Amino acid sequence: MKVKLYISATALFLSNYFAIAQTVSDANGNLNIIPAPSEIICSGGLVSIDGPINIIFDQELHFQAEIVSKFLGGIGVKVSSGSAQMLFISINNEYSEPESYEICIDKNSIKLLANSSAGISRAIATLEQLFLLNRSNSEIRLPKVYIFDKPKFIHRGLLLDCARHFFDKKTILQYIDLLAFYKLNTLHWHLTEDQAWRITIDKYPRLKSISSSRIEPNGDIYSGIYSKNDIREIVKYAEKRNITIIPEIELPGHSQAAIAAYPELSCTGEKVFVANDWGVFKEIYCAGNEEVFRFLKDVLSEVIDLFPSKYIHIGGDEVPKIRWENCQKCQKRIVDNNLDGERGLQSYFIKRIQNFLNANGREIIGWDEILEGGISSEAVIQSWRGVEYAIEALEAGNSVIMSPTSHAYLDYDLKAIDLKKIYLFDPIPKGINPKLHGQVIGGECNMWTEHVPDKKTLDSKVFPRLIGMAEALWSTGVKDYDHFNSRIESHYDILTNFNIQYGEESLPISYETFFLNDSLFLKLFSIDNENTEIYFKHVNTSSSANFLLYSLPILIDTNCAISARAFKSEKPYGEEIIIPLSQHKAINKEPKYTDNFSEFYDAGGKLGLVDGKLGTLDFRDGNWQGFWGKNIEIIIDLGKDLSQINEIISNFYQFSNSWIFLPRSIKIETSLDKKSWERDDFNVFYPLQNPRKREKEISQIKLIPNRKRKTRYIKIIIENFGKVPLWHEAAGSDSWIFIDEIQVH
Ligand code: ACM
Ligand code: ZN
Repeated sequence: MKVKLYISATALFLSNYFAIAQTVSDANGNLNIIPAPSEIICSGGLVSIDGPINIIFDQELHFQAEIVSKFLGGIGVKVSSGSAQMLFISINNEYSEPESYEICIDKNSIKLLANSSAGISRAIATLEQLFLLNRSNSEIRLPKVYIFDKPKFIHRGLLLDCARHFFDKKTILQYIDLLAFYKLNTLHWHLTEDQAWRITIDKYPRLKSISSSRIEPNGDIYSGIYSKNDIREIVKYAEKRNITIIPEIELPGHSQAAIAAYPELSCTGEKVFVANDWGVFKEIYCAGNEEVFRFLKDVLSEVIDLFPSKYIHIGGDEVPKIRWENCQKCQKRIVDNNLDGERGLQSYFIKRIQNFLNANGREIIGWDEILEGGISSEAVIQSWRGVEYAIEALEAGNSVIMSPTSHAYLDYDLKAIDLKKIYLFDPIPKGINPKLHGQVIGGECNMWTEHVPDKKTLDSKVFPRLIGMAEALWSTGVKDYDHFNSRIESHYDILTNFNIQYGEESLPISYETFFLNDSLFLKLFSIDNENTEIYFKHVNTSSSANFLLYSLPILIDTNCAISARAFKSEKPYGEEIIIPLSQHKAINKEPKYTDNFSEFYDAGGKLGLVDGKLGTLDFRDGNWQGFWGKNIEIIIDLGKDLSQINEIISNFYQFSNSWIFLPRSIKIETSLDKKSWERDDFNVFYPLQNPRKREKEISQIKLIPNRKRKTRYIKIIIENFGKVPLWHEAAGSDSWIFIDEIQVH
């Protein structure tokens, strides 16, 4: 059959359509479009096209026509481009959203209509999905359908950190295709860091010769930089797909790589190396030195030349102030400008850069730290640390992009953020005044790449979770994870055909402990229970012992570790996991705290330190309880039937890059009545610690009473390590204590 495909940027929207639920897959064809469109009406059956297709398009949409002819032509159906017969060029503002579109497929024609080329690009994404989801090898098969669609939020993005690890042009172009395919519209391209500078700047050649390479701890050299031609090609390609690329040039912090090439830009002027470790670094641009502003204006001028985006992201996050505190020039700047200390200096710095960019026709986006010391309401705030900063920004009149660590960090593993969590993400902070809703312009997933050295790892972290974010930011309908989950199943073949090595949707195996009749049990489960089988064994049993199929909770009567593996449709699903556990006398005895633990590292809540679950080397495994910048006192009531204490054991985490240190000291007091306390008759076995050590490490602290006796209450007093020391790149910051369990034996 011969069919005409009309592509027009005219908004000729059908009226009186009915909203009907999307069908998963039936005689009407597979309509598992993601993100789910606003309105779909199926008129029943499929259109099959095995003859030539004539594409008729508005001239300005020739690139879009090329994309369509490429994928439709991919199966050998002849695609020809005819002259434009339907030139509905007048922009009809019936719908205000530039990305809204209509598709109408019947037995005679396929129509893509929108009021802008961006809308046509989104329509093409839907058409391509309909085509791929109903694929046949010899003909084009499409459901007869009418679709009207529009986005919920105008800003829908992916931050890709190409500084920590470099991803080549081919990967960037492929990711632009995938952003378009899932109707995201922004690539936030993170190009400068402590660990590398990745954008060629003609005026400062050492940014290429020095700042784009680092010497890895093993002696290897790791380098990469995008040439101006690479960037022009990428930007042009993205423009054609209606994807905006927003470059991020970090300042005043995260700038050690630039300082390595131009040490005169720092407060001390001392030579430093491009950082070869992860973390937050104290070498930042000097705010008292005019040369720094000249440098940044020169750099940003070249950035503006390359990127047409309305917004330039200027970073602004994680700025240790210790260099500024000790720099005469910075201190003079504070005095001369009557600034509120270093916070005021941060604000001064950002505002000067903002004024420069504004004078050149651009606006800034900055991380929520740019609120520090005040910022004008034209700046867009990207909220990442916590909802309180988003609310502060909204109330101050700023527009906000939401990418909180709780829902949007793709570098976090599935324990912390799985597909369901991202899918259910609502960028609108709970409880805010509805008048402020409109200032939330959208969200992003942040793909930081410290631990993403290659494309395979990148794919597995980004997909499928980014697809959950795509629907969270685009679709206006009521959320239904089960429905989304059933639709995404048919996208995995598509991802494979795009050469994406996607990862899992959720942790293949989750676990929890419970306490029943004085006994501790371990329960294993998978979110996708129906299709997943779990096998387990005790780690210490002989290696030849078979894994057993898990069916009932496992009794834990001693300290042990359980190893578990999942299989989905009989294929291994995810990695084997090891679960360290402890049965002890304080299990389920709710501790009383003098001060709260972190809401982000709560080990599961009030029973987190007495649930039998021990921590692993992944400090985000959900078993570590974190305390930020303070000492801790915890009281546990062991019960009226006094307990004999033989030893108390706790594990503490150390990872200096993330400011997590072992406690300075730990003491135990005991009491029979919670009134008079006895102290100092415990021997503390404290591991030798070197706070400068860079590796992640778990240290066990053991306390053994000098004399055997029974007690009811124990009080544990833990002294925080204190401020991060001078040798550290984040010197002066508060530090964390991380503890997994208080094991009373
Ligand atoms: C950030 O994650 N430092 C914005
Ligand atoms: Zn300075």
